[in-house]
Amino acid sequence: MNYYYITGTSRGIGKAFAEHLLEDASNNVIGISRSKSIEHSNYRHFYLDLTDTTAIADFKFEIHAHAKKIFLINNAGSLGFIKPIGKLEASTIIKNYTLNLIAPSVLTNAFIDCYAAADAEKVIVNISSGAGKNPYDGWAVYCASKAGIDMFSRVVDMEQKISAQHAESSIHKGFKIFSIAPGVVNTTMQDEIRAASKVDFSRVENFIEYKLNDQLAEPKSVSKKYLNILANVEDIKEVLSAIKDYE
Ligand SMILES: NC(=O)c1ccc[n+]([C@@H]2O[C@H](COP(=O)([O-])OP(=O)(O)OC[C@H]3O[C@@H](n4cnc5c(N)ncnc54)[C@H](OP(=O)(O)O)[C@@H]3O)[C@@H](O)[C@H]2O)c1
Repeated sequence: MNYYYITGTSRGIGKAFAEHLLEDASNNVIGISRSKSIEHSNYRHFYLDLTDTTAIADFKFEIHAHAKKIFLINNAGSLGFIKPIGKLEASTIIKNYTLNLIAPSVLTNAFIDCYAAADAEKVIVNISSGAGKNPYDGWAVYCASKAGIDMFSRVVDMEQKISAQHAESSIHKGFKIFSIAPGVVNTTMQDEIRAASKVDFSRVENFIEYKLNDQLAEPKSVSKKYLNILANVEDIKEVLSAIKDYE
């Protein structure tokens, strides 16, 4: 059996991931978000607020004896309030970093600790963003947290490669980690971007045009592309990439 832990399965890209995976009876999906919208015999849900640091720290991965694949897909994320720095509440900044950067870091740490000895294909996928590479006004915390998750992924990848060199056994099974950006996708996040004021986000009209010109990808097609890429992790050469790099 395969086990996929996915954050943010209640809607958008995360829900599409879960629904695609559940089409195959050998896949089990464990979803994490504040609300649940999937009913399936191979789906289990943890109601968790990923801005709650205690809840994140307390989350426990389970031992899956004889698992073929175990994946952690850190997908849940939010722009938070779109406003320039100087105009945000401190609590908003703290919550947004917690959701976008601290939660995936803490979950990845627990995942590697739990499955270090597991003889399965073990993969961590962080859903990153072009906003981690390019600045967008009004999105400072989101951009910084996505840049942070990219660097976090690079360091974990480096650690896994170093630990593979030191491993005594040639059958050492380490972890693969990738940070892959989806492009612009037709989800609630894009609704929130288009609702921003031009004063708070100078490029809002570009995003309104993406929608009007039908340039947003649908979550189902994006999740399918991710899963096609992740079907052969040995072929993924870079820790950081974007869906468009594979087209
Ligand atoms: N859409 C795009 O154009 C785009 C572009 C680049 C990158 N991304 C990235 O893609 C990922 C998915 O985004 P999306 O577009 O699918 O967004 P979405 O439709 O808004 O879905 C976000 C998901 O995250 C969960 N979530 C939000 N806050 C949470 C919290 N405090 N605790 C637990 N779960 C929480 C939501 O569940 P609940 O509300 O039920 O908790 C929901 O399932 C994000 O990491 C985002 O940064 C999206």
